Amino acid sequence: MSTSNTQARRQELLNQYQQIQAKTLNLDLTRGKPATAQLNLSNAMDGILQGDFKCSDGSDARNYGGGLGIPEARQFAADYLDAKTAQIMVGGNSSLQMMYQYVEGAYLHGVRGADSAWIKEATNGQRIKFLCPAPGYDRHFSICEALGIEMIPVTMDDNGPDMGSIEALLRNDPLIKGIWCVPKYANPNGVVYSADVVERFAKLGTIAGANFRILWDNAYAEHHLVDNPPELANVIALSEKYGTLDNVIVIGSTSKITLAGAGIAFIATSESNIKHFADLLGISTIGPDKVNQLRHIRFLKDLPTLRGLMQQHRAILQPKFELVLKHLNQGLAGKAVNGQTLGSWTVPAGGYFILFDTLPGMADKVVKLCAGAGVKLTPAGSTWPYKKDPQNTNIRLAPSFPSLAEIDEAMQVFVLCVELAALDAQA
Ligand SMILES: Cc1ncc(COP(=O)(O)O)c(C=O)c1O
Repeated sequence: MSTSNTQARRQELLNQYQQIQAKTLNLDLTRGKPATAQLNLSNAMDGILQGDFKCSDGSDARNYGGGLGIPEARQFAADYLDAKTAQIMVGGNSSLQMMYQYVEGAYLHGVRGADSAWIKEATNGQRIKFLCPAPGYDRHFSICEALGIEMIPVTMDDNGPDMGSIEALLRNDPLIKGIWCVPKYANPNGVVYSADVVERFAKLGTIAGANFRILWDNAYAEHHLVDNPPELANVIALSEKYGTLDNVIVIGSTSKITLAGAGIAFIATSESNIKHFADLLGISTIGPDKVNQLRHIRFLKDLPTLRGLMQQHRAILQPKFELVLKHLNQGLAGKAVNGQTLGSWTVPAGGYFILFDTLPGMADKVVKLCAGAGVKLTPAGSTWPYKKDPQNTNIRLAPSFPSLAEIDEAMQVFVLCVELAALDAQA
């Protein structure tokens, strides 16, 4: 584009921007929350117990106890995570809470008794560290920040995190005690870890320092947006093969299957880890909400039933993702400013997010422009440890909660702001 054309286009976009501002929109593409229509898919769970609180082992779900979860929920979670029932603990409504409890417990009280507490190694002003494949999930990073655990970002490509640098870092630094992962439809870039990456993860326990843990947050295991979804290799089976299951904590929940605020969360790991974690949690609770576990199992029944429900979720979600992608394609594909394309974006096969990458250094500017036009986006930087996106390019788009009409309007604003930001940079 010539300079005068650039200026004319910029003025045209500015005029459109001002017209949008006059509409005082209030649109939100920030958090990956299920839409009300998705929550409604599980309405039949309400009242499903009809006074029958008896679990498969004859216990009463209403009473104290059952720190590992009720047997039928453990069996269900084992099927879901491809683990053995004895390797499962079913907890409360939030997998994030279980992750926090696990990391905090390991930090303060140890992964297998007080001698293994990570904090014991944080001597002489040294800090415990976590590897953080990035872009990643901001709430994982908040857990580390809250506990004063130093975060080391690790880059990712379409196969998953850079395993070469993870292995090298682990070989050289025994203070690295953990790594965060979202191995399937990663939040926010939708990546599914390749079979080779999963196998190398399973071997990390053989090269890491003592008490190292992989937090394998499989939050989107069944959350497909395509037919014939990609397979994720089974990290539990591979870890058993390499004798490293103690190093792996697999996490899941039904937050985006049944009810986001009232689902059930679970972990799978070695039986000895389960015992240590149960003992630790037993200090703070006399058992999880087993009534919620029981009603989940009566409602979800088995994996095929769950998969049928996930198809109903997909029917609601897929048009929303397609609409976002339509706007990106129509508004930005093939456009360039000063010979540079205006951005790139993921086309996820599942999960809850589309990751948009602006031109270097532009993400915060685009987010600010969108906010000024009434469209809230996740703050730039959120996808990186300490909220520091080194290139300032990542913008996480979360289309699940808003309606199609709202997405339509929000995405018109978004593509306009992306182009305007790029032209502003030339001005
Ligand atoms: C990767 C990931 N893990 C965990 C969660 C939260 O799960 P829960 O509701 O079970 O705490 C989310 C929610 O967005 C997520 O994206």
